Amino acid sequence: MTKKIPPESQSRAMELHEILNRANYQYYVLDAPELPDVEYDRCLRELQGLEEQYPQLVTSDSPTQRVGAEPLAAFTQIRHEMPMLSLDNAFSDEEMEDFDRRIRERLNYSAPVEYACEPKLDGIAVSLLYRNGLLERAATRGDGTVGEDITQNVRTIYSVPLKLLAEDVPDVLEVRGEIYMPKAGFEALNEKALATGDKTFVNPRNAAAGSLRQLDPRITAQRPLELCAYSVGVVEGGELPEAHSEILQQLNRWGFRINGEMTVAKNIQECIEYHRRLGEKRAQLPYDIDGIVFKVNSIPLQRRLGFVARAPRWATAYKFPAQEEMTRLLDVEFQVGRTGAVTPVARLEPVFVGGVTVSNATLHNRDEIERLGVKIGDTVIVRRAGDVIPQVVSVVESRRPKGARDIEFPSHCPVCDSPVEATPGEAVARCSGGLICSAQRKQAIKHFASRKAMDIDGLGDKLVEQMVDEGLLNSVSGLYHLSLEPLVALERMGEKSAQNLLDALERSKDTTLPKFLYALGIREVGEATARNLARHFGDLDQIMQADTEALQQVEDVGPIVAHYVAEFFEQPHNLEEIAALQQAGVHWAAEIRESGSEPLAGQTWVLTGKLETLSRSEAKDYLQRLGAKVAGSVSANTHTVVAGPGAGSKLNKARDLGLPVLDEEGLMSMLRTQGIEI
Ligand code: IVH
Repeated sequence: MTKKIPPESQSRAMELHEILNRANYQYYVLDAPELPDVEYDRCLRELQGLEEQYPQLVTSDSPTQRVGAEPLAAFTQIRHEMPMLSLDNAFSDEEMEDFDRRIRERLNYSAPVEYACEPKLDGIAVSLLYRNGLLERAATRGDGTVGEDITQNVRTIYSVPLKLLAEDVPDVLEVRGEIYMPKAGFEALNEKALATGDKTFVNPRNAAAGSLRQLDPRITAQRPLELCAYSVGVVEGGELPEAHSEILQQLNRWGFRINGEMTVAKNIQECIEYHRRLGEKRAQLPYDIDGIVFKVNSIPLQRRLGFVARAPRWATAYKFPAQEEMTRLLDVEFQVGRTGAVTPVARLEPVFVGGVTVSNATLHNRDEIERLGVKIGDTVIVRRAGDVIPQVVSVVESRRPKGARDIEFPSHCPVCDSPVEATPGEAVARCSGGLICSAQRKQAIKHFASRKAMDIDGLGDKLVEQMVDEGLLNSVSGLYHLSLEPLVALERMGEKSAQNLLDALERSKDTTLPKFLYALGIREVGEATARNLARHFGDLDQIMQADTEALQQVEDVGPIVAHYVAEFFEQPHNLEEIAALQQAGVHWAAEIRESGSEPLAGQTWVLTGKLETLSRSEAKDYLQRLGAKVAGSVSANTHTVVAGPGAGSKLNKARDLGLPVLDEEGLMSMLRTQGIEI
């Protein structure tokens, strides 16, 4: 027998639905969370408690019911009442002008036509059917007429409302949109897959498709998917506005995320301008887009224009240059990095992709070659998104030529012929030659000279290579024995630049212990670890003498890093180099030791908004010197938030959590009080 629900529990459950649904909307749709996380969790637990006590309270739109369904045996098919169409494409400004001309001719219009402009998200098209405001069914586009029922999976996506947010909704409303995976989520997912040995996804679109195709909704629930609404299908028992842009605003009020870049253009020239602007911004957007969709904004005009075959006359997609292209793998060469890592690099038949001509792409390591199953001569898909290094993402096996050759991983270093060694548990194989290997030497010198290390102005990669190749330079300490004459004798080197380089080398001698440690290029010792080591031990001798146990006392240093550090300082040639550098005059001021002198130790600070007097890295540096951690996001563990002009959601969150907030002035005065001279 089921217990009767007391009216106050019933109304409390409804109230909790309301609170949680609104919080989801603010967080996932508006990107403006108002309810603190802890409060959200508390409400959710309270609702779960009530539902456990009175199972009749569990309704399909309850915020507790996103995941819960059992795995399916197969997806069932669904026929779309209104077909889901595709779009015509345009590839140039001229084709856009033609599109506009055709529209105006058909409408017999001489005045400009207004267009809604929306990024064309690269994901999966879906149809969401709401009856009396409740999500009833979600389906893929399929072939446009018949799709698959993916309701259980779509319910797990928090930007999909289970219940529409207002009362004035049509009896039946079909919302259409794109489910996609933001770039950051995609990268995190692939990193996790690599770490656990699972299959990685080729691009965010495939990752989104693969995630929706799961028969077990619990898997989909763990995938970072989002929905962006872009149109409506069937509407019964209700009215919608007469402009597409206003329909989208209405959908937003009902609980759907719409694209923040969406705008209305007064004429086709503004459309072309918008396409150009977004093209420039494309790499910085947090999601992949492959073009811009332009739609006649007036719904009555859309009706007059109608459809041709499978696409509307009133819309087109102006595409961007593709981020993936097919080309041929001509050969594979092996490059040797600073730590000896041997990286296979694909030499490709040049291909225009992501807006540039690409002829090389990384193949990462031996495992990646195996995973791709790639052979020399294969046709491959190359991806270049934004400024990311081009990658070979897959092989078109159906095009494999007869003479395709296996890629042989070298057993000896292609530069110095020392044996290449694989480290158990690591995907990377390394040249064992150390600094005997000129490739490693070059990389070590480049790293030593780089901005965050010794910051030697004018010592570019090309120059390092030239000097090592010509025997002028053998080691990092050799830099401080360079003299004017042989430098001037180098090709493309004038007396002035040679002197500038010597001056920069002289200046670089005055450094800090963290920078020097980082410059040494010890494996796994990045800037932060170098800083922690310097702070913990106070001087170099102490670090050099520390055993792995002592090293592990340092913040963020585990057994692996400790091993690399200890190993580095056991090698006689490293000790000789350090002595030679100090002899040449490299020096640093004593470090402030950790104990007592770190008034902000244990605190996490967050910087947001614009700083005007200090640069962000200076502010970070000062805070870290005082022992604070500087993090990128605000949480209940944040100690203080420094907010400059333009601060947004982080500042709001800080206020919600009741955290102390300082402006730049406040930060500076705190720093001064702590004895930092600014
Ligand atoms: S409108 C009749 N708007 O592009 C109009 N489509 O070929 C139909 N897409 O797979 C679509 N972003 O999922 C429209 N803002 C947007 C879109 C968009 C992405 C996808 C859509 C479909 C393809 C259309």
